[in-house]
Amino acid sequence: MATAMMTRSDTNETEVLDPSKETRVHLLWKIGQLQMLPSLALKALDMVKRPDCSIRQFSALIKRDMTLATDMLKMANSMVYSRGLPIPSLTRAVSRLGLDQCKNLIIASSANSLMLQLTMTETWIREALWRHGFLTAKIASGLNQELNLGFQGEEFTAGLIHDIGRILMAVLDPADFTKSDKLDCNEGGEAKQQELLQREQDLFGTTHCSLGGWFVEYSGLPQSLADAVRFHHTYSDEMTDRPLVALTAVADHMANHMQMTKSTGGYDPELNPALDYLATSHSKRDMLIKLMPKVMAEAVSFSI
Ligand SMILES: [Fe+2]
Ligand SMILES: [Fe+2]
Repeated sequence: MATAMMTRSDTNETEVLDPSKETRVHLLWKIGQLQMLPSLALKALDMVKRPDCSIRQFSALIKRDMTLATDMLKMANSMVYSRGLPIPSLTRAVSRLGLDQCKNLIIASSANSLMLQLTMTETWIREALWRHGFLTAKIASGLNQELNLGFQGEEFTAGLIHDIGRILMAVLDPADFTKSDKLDCNEGGEAKQQELLQREQDLFGTTHCSLGGWFVEYSGLPQSLADAVRFHHTYSDEMTDRPLVALTAVADHMANHMQMTKSTGGYDPELNPALDYLATSHSKRDMLIKLMPKVMAEAVSFSI
């Protein structure tokens, strides 16, 4: 099954293909029993959909999985969710955040622990990519809040997992991964993005976007998250009705700048290839550009 997706540049088009069946089987064999959503998390997500779902029942279910419960409480207490007010218990977290936010907290916590469990010989690669995902998540959350975009935590999860395909490539073949991915946080500019995607295509027969997007779909996560992972480097005019893709792409570019320069200063928003996809009017564009330094500065101070 090959999904053809052209990049928005007319002059430098790259056909992006889904991972082959062989790659998918190889990956699933490598990661073994690991699943993005453990069965209890799936049950909890199902429970949230029911109109009669109560906070007490929901908390009791989550508490049956200590790892998930601890991880959720840890994330709930990150500045992104708690806004600085300590959340002492899971039940309090659920009642304060609401079931919708908790749904995204379950997905973020599960994805987080999956990423930390993936085994690879070069653990620094996983840590570098995790840091990049977490910074992107914090920036996406900050932009969501400042611009009142209306996301309920899914922007955090999308930022956290947007480059999961890169981690999966490192699991698949560490040697080829280091040839394709320089991990220099210089994937933000459009030309650099194309070079990275082309190297991945040559070595893996797919890109980190397609591999990650496929894995997110395979794991049963919402389609909007799979789209954010799949299209964060290949958005186009057809994506204007998918603001989560644009938000993730904008935040990714800002995170790359911060990690590459080790600073929040000197950022040129005009170089952000996704800016016009998130800010669809002049006034929104001006507001977004004005907010960027503040959001980047706050992202540095957030902790998990
Ligand atoms: Fe990426
Ligand atoms: Fe990225």
